[in-house]
Amino acid sequence: MKATYQEIYQAWQSDPDGFWADAAKSITWNKPYDNIRDDSRAPFYSWFPGGEVNVCYNAVDRHVAQGRGPQTALIYDSPVANVKQHYSYQDLLEKVSKLAGGLASLGVTKGDRVVIYMPMIPEAVFTMLACARIGAIHSVVFGGFADTELAKRIDDAKPKIIVSASGGIEPTHQVPYKPLLDSAVTHARHKVDHCVIFERPGLEVDLNGPRDIDGHHLMDNADPVPCVPVASGHPLYILYTSGTTGVPKGVVRDSAGYMVALSWSMPHVYGVESGDVYWAASDIGWVVGHSYIVYAPLLQGCTTVLFEGKPVGTPDAGTFWRVIEDYHVNVLFTAPTALRAIKREDPAGDHVRKYDLSSLRSLFLAGERADPDSIKWAETHLSRPVIDHWWQTETGWPAAANFAGLELMPVKYGSAGLPVPGYEICILDDHDRKRPAGETGDVAIKLPLPPGCLPTLWQKDDHYQTSYLADHKGYYATGDAGFIDADGYVHIMSRTDDIINVAGHRLSTGGIEEAVGAAPSVAECAVVGMKDDLKGMVPLAFVVLYPGNSAAPEAIAKEVITVVREKIGPVAALKTVIPVKRLPKTRSGKILRATLRKIADHEEFVVPATIDDPCILDEIRRNLTQHGMD
Ligand code: COA
Ligand code: AMP
Repeated sequence: MKATYQEIYQAWQSDPDGFWADAAKSITWNKPYDNIRDDSRAPFYSWFPGGEVNVCYNAVDRHVAQGRGPQTALIYDSPVANVKQHYSYQDLLEKVSKLAGGLASLGVTKGDRVVIYMPMIPEAVFTMLACARIGAIHSVVFGGFADTELAKRIDDAKPKIIVSASGGIEPTHQVPYKPLLDSAVTHARHKVDHCVIFERPGLEVDLNGPRDIDGHHLMDNADPVPCVPVASGHPLYILYTSGTTGVPKGVVRDSAGYMVALSWSMPHVYGVESGDVYWAASDIGWVVGHSYIVYAPLLQGCTTVLFEGKPVGTPDAGTFWRVIEDYHVNVLFTAPTALRAIKREDPAGDHVRKYDLSSLRSLFLAGERADPDSIKWAETHLSRPVIDHWWQTETGWPAAANFAGLELMPVKYGSAGLPVPGYEICILDDHDRKRPAGETGDVAIKLPLPPGCLPTLWQKDDHYQTSYLADHKGYYATGDAGFIDADGYVHIMSRTDDIINVAGHRLSTGGIEEAVGAAPSVAECAVVGMKDDLKGMVPLAFVVLYPGNSAAPEAIAKEVITVVREKIGPVAALKTVIPVKRLPKTRSGKILRATLRKIADHEEFVVPATIDDPCILDEIRRNLTQHGMD
């Protein structure tokens, strides 16, 4: 009989060390750890001190050693490149150990950083694992970011080399990566030794020798190298995520704690065992891709699917179901926005019925609040549990969920489920007092965070403390607001900062504002997140032009959108720019962004008592109406 959620959560509460010691047995240690956790530098905690591990060994080599060599480890399915490939664990070992040898031949050693700027191709996974193999710290930058964002990350991570590809393929166009890479490398203050470029068929580029190195040649001609043991707390990767400014935060992930957490999550949260086929339809540029395309499924000895396509348009709204049928996928993990895109094109579920989905056991959703309509649509057409769960780049694995590996708890629409063992989730007021059940407040997690969560920000311990630990003493502030209901279910309602979630992508309106402000015509601006039926939210820019600027609104919009695409990237998805005479401000000069957001979303609002000129709000309403947003 399966354990219940209450039993498991209580097991952790009553003996946390015993709980994690048990979980730690699922990984292979080069050297056993001395203690479960080191609290001596609190609030900086480290998990499994004294131990030594290698993540690549655990994800690849040990499966081959245990006889799983012939099992498929990675399926690459690309409707945009028209390619389908299978790699067994044995193939993966050969590719990764040779590429690791190639990186080592370029002077990359333990602790060196490697920036990876790549589309969803197998070589991206090989590179992540190759870094892990030699103890190099990878930092993957999402392909939808422009050169300026890439340069910021190069300057922060200071990589020895960058691994990239000649280009990406979007449904309607190719995205040449090389010019973006060249520009970022030129503009970054930090200088890299080499760029390793994997050329893709049909996307050939000229390499700038001796800086640029052909990736396939490097991988194919290198001698394989063994795994390098690293300390438990050695960073496996840095993953940059949006903060409240244009400066991204470098979330650090340790090695052993992360493996223990991911390995615990696979059977318990996702109900997945070795040999199962697991598909996270995300991108390796995001945390979901790191944790659940690459590391967790491979640690668990599963087959993972790397899908280079979109939920719709590649070629149609049936593509997800086709992949499930083709590869007998057992668990699918995607973002609610993907479901909304599919539902919009296939409201009656006609595509779903065309495919044999008998292998599918459950569908997990995360990345943004799952709207009940989408969950119900999926439940109706899939007849499987559809499970919303909540986490962040910072946590690296779910903090609240329903548990497919335990006795499944009843689904409550609008809730992201129950706290995962390891997480004590509290709703706090401004004085760190716990809010009663059902009342909204800041969602905080009691320290210490469980294994797998960020130990700090890359070389910015102070920033880590001020960003996450300063708001509520003894707690990690998630930046989310929400409530816990009388049954203990967590409801995540909104952010408490300026972060917006656009199609499951986390962006900072502050960062977009910085880019909009750089447009030559713009004297002042405010960017807010506006509700969107497909993407959940989209940015909306209000701009005040320099005096005398009489350009047409369309020309201004074009200028601003172009600057944002250049400075942040297409992923920012800014489409609407509203010129206004002035921005609404308080008498002390603070822009009333919350009021702007409410006007854009047609929500009721009270005119703030501190507003300097209430008439400006009517003008803004009129301008929105002129843009068809009434
Ligand atoms: N490399 C280069 N460009 C990229 C890119 C990448 N990896 N990913 C997205 N872009 C570009 C797109 O081409 C598009 O550019 P355009 O404005 O020139 O057309 C822009 O960034 C916005 O892309 P996207 O957010 O994908 O919007 P879309 O309208 O093309 O598609 C969805 C909408 C909902 C289908 C799509 O956003 C989606 O699949 N979302 C799921 C996201 C997800 O899985 N997130 C992970 C969290 S779990
Ligand atoms: P990211 O770091 O990109 O994974 O984004 C994390 C943020 O996305 C969280 O802080 C939430 O604001 C939001 N988020 C993720 N999953 C959920 C969910 N299941 N429900 C509500 N919000 C979510």
